[in-house]
Amino acid sequence: MKSIDDLFKPLVAYHNVGHPADWDMQFDRKAPLDVEIGFGMGEFLVRSAKNSPERNIIGFEQIWERVVKTLKRIRREAGLLENIRILRMDVRVSLERLFGQRSIDNVYCLFPCPWPKKGHIKHRLFSTEFLKLVNSRLKAKGNLKIVTDFYPYYEWVLEQSKETGFKVTENTVQPQYDTKFERKWMEAGQEEFYEINMHKVRHVDVPVRKDVKLRSYKVKKFDPANFHFEDQIGKCSVVFKDIIFDEKKQKGIISLIVSELEMVQHFWVSVIKRDDGWRICKTEGQNIFPTEGIATALELVYQAAKSST
Ligand SMILES: C[S@@+](CC[C@H](N)C(=O)[O-])C[C@H]1O[C@@H](n2cnc3c(N)ncnc32)[C@H](O)[C@@H]1O
Repeated sequence: MKSIDDLFKPLVAYHNVGHPADWDMQFDRKAPLDVEIGFGMGEFLVRSAKNSPERNIIGFEQIWERVVKTLKRIRREAGLLENIRILRMDVRVSLERLFGQRSIDNVYCLFPCPWPKKGHIKHRLFSTEFLKLVNSRLKAKGNLKIVTDFYPYYEWVLEQSKETGFKVTENTVQPQYDTKFERKWMEAGQEEFYEINMHKVRHVDVPVRKDVKLRSYKVKKFDPANFHFEDQIGKCSVVFKDIIFDEKKQKGIISLIVSELEMVQHFWVSVIKRDDGWRICKTEGQNIFPTEGIATALELVYQAAKSST
């Protein structure tokens, strides 16, 4: 019987690789690198790895249940462990921080979330800004392929693609990927989909974004009953949710929501009694991306703690 460790072997953790990561080293070989964004149940991802054993393939997916289903699919296909890696995280963060410029050969995205409501268009993935990021991570002549079921999304992506360094070609295509969402739309009666190919013709420079070093703070006194956090709303928002204080342990945990760009993170800050005062730091054990917003949240907790007495 295969062990549970085998199941999770293709999973790459944000904090366990360099920024940017050396992907040849992660795969233990030098090979062309393709990525799939939002692989869902992993049908296309696993098929691609199977059909192209000479290529390294990385999949991005945010939803844990879908990642686990895909990991099980990979395990069923024994030798595949060699050429698939999985990143369970927001592709915007991982492309920006874990991939060097000119490091990827091809990017695929099948049936991206369409966000059909007008007020939700800001959540769509392939904005001009994201297309520039994809461009910078692709090698010269690299290709991005997007297939969508939703005509307004197709039109929107074409609009967004201006000035992003791509030559764009479009097509309508027959169902051919046999993914959960392709099957869903076929069952609903859709017979063709909209395919956009973006060929990189000019490089757009988007440097690798570095993690922010998170510091800890110290205050002489701290009064949890008198702790008032002023929410910060703006380009980077930090919103207070709760404070839990353990009298016995003289330890508090402050829960915050940090949103910056499209990224929203739940963040916990600890305030712990020490001999010489109170230490304010990131609560251990949470998996957050160390961004400017997280650093700001820590600083704001420090300011609020200072004013609590
Ligand atoms: C409509 S589903 C399509 C799934 C699959 N490609 C298919 O054809 O069945 C879109 C997928 O993209 C994933 N996704 C959306 N935004 C993402 C992001 N920023 N980073 C990683 N995955 C994302 C979602 O979790 C979802 O599983």
